[in-house]
Amino acid sequence: MFALHSPAPAASAEARYAELIARARALLAGERDQGANAANLAALIFHALPQVNWAGFYWLKDEELVLGPFQGQPACVRIALGRGVCGTAALERRTLVVTDVSRFPGHIACDSASRSEVVVPLLHGDRVVGVLDIDSPLPGRFDAADARALEALVAIFIEATRLED
Ligand code: SME
Repeated sequence: MFALHSPAPAASAEARYAELIARARALLAGERDQGANAANLAALIFHALPQVNWAGFYWLKDEELVLGPFQGQPACVRIALGRGVCGTAALERRTLVVTDVSRFPGHIACDSASRSEVVVPLLHGDRVVGVLDIDSPLPGRFDAADARALEALVAIFIEATRLED
């Protein structure tokens, strides 16, 4: 029971992600187009997660990452494999949680407001298709639980989508 004028308690991160995952499944169900699904998922994540200033995709094309659908400020279009957080996550095929981007060697500051970041590679079998990149203006915004939940969202995307070559 809450006092009449006390604010509603904020949803826990776990509850927020459970809802986000259910909404992503519903949003992508029955649609196979890569651009459409990526655009909708970027918008869903950007608007659902607090303290996020950029959410979007890069596609791996000829050994470099090329900007895909996103929400947030305009961003760097091309990132070499192995460069920055995105290029490192793609090269090493693993999720990277960066609590302070200024301490990440080679971090690419597309939006100077970004202070922390999580990047999840999009893996289809052996192939790296691209990455999902989420930025925050708060240092230390993301932890291992965010990483696992975003990996679950990426898995929904990979399963729903007909991936382009
Ligand atoms: N900060 C990223 C570049 C992409 S933007 O944040 C959208 C990086 O170092 O990979």
